[in-house]
Amino acid sequence: MADIAVIGAGYVGLTTGTCLAHLGHNVTIADIDEIKVQKLNEGEVTIFEPGLSGLLTQGIENGNLKFVVGATSASRNAAFHFLCLPTPPNPDGSTNMEYFSSAIEEIKDILPPNSVIVNKSTLPVGTASQLKKQIQRTDVEIVSNPEFLSEGNAVQDFLQPSRIVIGAESQKAASSVAALFKDIDTTTQITGTESSELIKHTANAFLAMKLTFINEIATLCELVGANVLDVAEGIGYDPRIGSTYLRPGPGWGGSCFPKDSSSLLQTANKAGFDFELLEKAITLNQKHLQRTAQKVVNALPQGKEPENSKIAALGLTFKAGTDDLRSSPSLTVIEHLFNLNGRVSAYDPMVNLPIENMSKLEITSTAYEAANNADALVILTEWQEFADLNFERIREAMRHPIVVDARNLLNPQDLELLGFQYIGLGQ
Ligand SMILES: NC(=O)c1ccc[n+]([C@@H]2O[C@H](COP(=O)([O-])OP(=O)(O)OC[C@H]3O[C@@H](n4cnc5c(N)ncnc54)[C@H](O)[C@@H]3O)[C@@H](O)[C@H]2O)c1
Repeated sequence: MADIAVIGAGYVGLTTGTCLAHLGHNVTIADIDEIKVQKLNEGEVTIFEPGLSGLLTQGIENGNLKFVVGATSASRNAAFHFLCLPTPPNPDGSTNMEYFSSAIEEIKDILPPNSVIVNKSTLPVGTASQLKKQIQRTDVEIVSNPEFLSEGNAVQDFLQPSRIVIGAESQKAASSVAALFKDIDTTTQITGTESSELIKHTANAFLAMKLTFINEIATLCELVGANVLDVAEGIGYDPRIGSTYLRPGPGWGGSCFPKDSSSLLQTANKAGFDFELLEKAITLNQKHLQRTAQKVVNALPQGKEPENSKIAALGLTFKAGTDDLRSSPSLTVIEHLFNLNGRVSAYDPMVNLPIENMSKLEITSTAYEAANNADALVILTEWQEFADLNFERIREAMRHPIVVDARNLLNPQDLELLGFQYIGLGQ
C-alpha cells in the first residue's frame, strides 16, 4: 500500500483521497482552508456527496486518512502526490493555472526522491510537460490521470469508473500509478500525457455538444409538433448514439462543462485550428439559457408584465443531487429573468443562504413558500423532491397555476388534470 498526498480537498480531492484510503492506501489530504481541514479531521464532510461520509469516518477510524493544512505537510513523506486543485477559467476562456503553479512551487523542493506527481485536475494539453520543466527534478515523474466523476455520484464513479486513463512518459510511472487502482475492476488506458489531457477536455466538450444537440432538437420538436422525449428515446436505442445525455434542459452549466469546453476552444485557437463546431455549441448554449428565461416570461398570464409578477423557481444548483452552485444554469436563467424585469423567489433543497451577487433573489425554505402568490413556476433542476410535491397545494398557493418544466420532470397530464397550464420542453 502506498503513501499518498492529495492536494486540494474539494469535490475531486476529497473523493479521490477518501476512496484511495478505502482501497487501503495511507492518505493525507491537504487544503489551504484551515476551517475545512479542521471539520474534515472531526469527520464532518464539507460537501454534499452521497456515500462519502461513511468512507471518510472509516478512513479516520482506521488511521489511514488524515487532513492537514498546506501541501508541504502532506507531500513531505508521500510517494504519490495527487493534485486536485481548481482550474477556473480566465476571462478569455483559457485555463487559469495560478493554483497549480503556486502549489507546485510550494512542493517541488521537498518532494521525496523518485516521487510521482499525479494530475487529477482537468488541465490543458501540454501541462504535464510544462510542469516537468517547472520543477527541474529529473527524478520526479509527472503523470496525467484525469478524473471523470460526476457530482452526486462521485464515490460510485470513482470506485466503479467507466475507465481509468493514465498519461505518462515512462511505462514505469504509468504502471506505478495503475497499481494504486489495482482493486478497481475496469479498463485502464495508458497513453502519452498530451493524449490523456486531451481525453478529459474532449469528453466534457463532447457531452456538452450532445446536450446542445438535443436542446436544438427540443426547439425543433416544439415547432413541428413532435415530442423530444420520444425522439430522444428513439435515437437512444441505437448503441452508436447511446441514451445518456439526451435529456433536454435549460442549457448546460456546472463547474466543468463551460470552463472545459472554453479551454478546449482556446487550445484549438492556440494551435491554429478554428474549432467552429465547439464554438457554435457554446454560443447556442447561451441562447438556450436565454430562451428558457424568455419561455417563462412568455408563459405569464396575458397582460401580466414581468415587473408586476412573481416567478417561483425550483432548483438553484447546476443539477439535482449536488450542492454545487458554480456556473449553475439555474442562476443564469434567473439572471436573465431579472434582466427581463422578473421578480423571483426560489427554493432548493441544498441552498438556504443568500447567493453572492444575487441580492434580488429571495430564497425560501420550502417549495410551497416559493410558490406563494406566484404567477408562474419554473422547474430548473430535476430533484425527485420536486416531482413528489403536493401540486394541489402548489396550485392553491399560486396566483396563476402555470408551470414551465425546463427539465421535463413532471407528468403533463397529471398537472393538467389538477388545472395547471403545463409548458414542457420540446413536447
Ligand atoms: N467537480 C467535478 O465534478 C470535477 C469532476 C472531474 C474533474 N474535475 C476537475 O478537478 C479539479 C478540482 O475540481 P473541484 O471541483 O474538486 O474543485 P474545488 O474548488 O471543489 O476544490 C479545490 C480545493 O483545492 C483547495 N486549494 C486551492 N489551492 C490549494 C493549495 N495551494 N494547496 C492545497 N489546497 C488548495 C481549495 O481550497 C479547494 O478546497 C478541477 O480541475 C476540475 O475541473 C472536477
